[in-house]
Amino acid sequence: MPNATPDPIAAERLAARLAALHPTMAVDPAAVRVVRAPGRINLIGEHTDYNDGFVLPAAIDLETRIAFVPTTDRRVGLAAEGEATAASIDLDAIGTRAGAWADYIAGTAWALAAAGVPTRGLTGLVTSTLPREAGLSSSAALELAAAWALADGDAPPLDGLALARACQRAENDYVGVQCGLMDQFAVSCGVAGAALLLDCRSLAFRPVPLPEERLALVVCHTGARRRLGASAYNDRRRQCAEAVAAVARHRRDVASLRDLGVADLPWLATILDEVGLRRARHVITENDRVLATVAALAAGEDERVGELFAASHASLRDDFEVSSRELDLLVAIATATPGVGAARMTGGGFGGCTVNLVRPDAVERLASAVLRDYPARTGLQPAVMAVRAADGAGIVTRG
Ligand code: GLA
Repeated sequence: MPNATPDPIAAERLAARLAALHPTMAVDPAAVRVVRAPGRINLIGEHTDYNDGFVLPAAIDLETRIAFVPTTDRRVGLAAEGEATAASIDLDAIGTRAGAWADYIAGTAWALAAAGVPTRGLTGLVTSTLPREAGLSSSAALELAAAWALADGDAPPLDGLALARACQRAENDYVGVQCGLMDQFAVSCGVAGAALLLDCRSLAFRPVPLPEERLALVVCHTGARRRLGASAYNDRRRQCAEAVAAVARHRRDVASLRDLGVADLPWLATILDEVGLRRARHVITENDRVLATVAALAAGEDERVGELFAASHASLRDDFEVSSRELDLLVAIATATPGVGAARMTGGGFGGCTVNLVRPDAVERLASAVLRDYPARTGLQPAVMAVRAADGAGIVTRG
């Protein structure tokens, strides 16, 4: 049996817990607001976002919620389940990052103010069904949930894309991770039942309906903490930028790897060093695979989707070098399981999760195969989660 997707914590229960946390504050449960922000998987288009390329992520039904009451004193006090320390922020004197989870809240408050969004103080409680450090964008979910709570009024005065960009800025310039836009975008703009094709150059995007009745979305978690995450990620970004700089010395029309195609690869081999060539080859071929996947999904060509996922995984493993033994093993187990149509690592890599498209009648078979074979070969406990494509961040309406 796959681990059941945990139910989001009911808003009523969250409100009661918040009231219990602050017995002296006389929190009226009816006045408590609840906001939510989902995690995401990326179907395909990995390490292409910061190269002006294409991505195809989907928000999922594992999510972070914040229950809160607005205050008038410009102070943010947030407890988080599973965290020993609370976040305590003065919105008029945010300060620099502290190396704690509260940085995501402080960074978001800072980025909202920088974007001209009025913010408000609040007292609240964060809770989540999203596993942390699993490559499912729990950080982006925390940022977007915080943005919805911190923005004064009923909803932030920015559209979903602009809000995602503010949260990306929080992560880039406050937390200090040079991530692209994909995670915040998917978490903010998600559409239930669909993935989103985003052109990271023009920022045009559109939903791509997923045939979830024919192909279930299954996430397999390696159970391995993401090693080397931020520093290796920043290295890859730098190597891509160096490849572009080397190319631009010969071709002024090239501003990013997006400006190159497969036909340029033989020439690139003559001007780039070996690492630069492999990084560029991954990004160039991955962009093509994203568009091919969108076409194959629309045409119902499931086998083709499987081939594209396999090619993406191999390219991330061999050319971009961001996979891991555990991710490769999960993909191998999935690929050998009848009824699994497509499998690849998802997200930044170096641990985390795989994403699989699975015939509904094969979901349990995949879960059994993973739970049987993976721990014996790694000593790690995996998790297998059937998820659904969900809406992006917003308010939880209480009925
Ligand atoms: C992380 C980053 C994203 C993206 C992916 C790789 O999730 O936050 O911006 O670069 O890695 O596709």
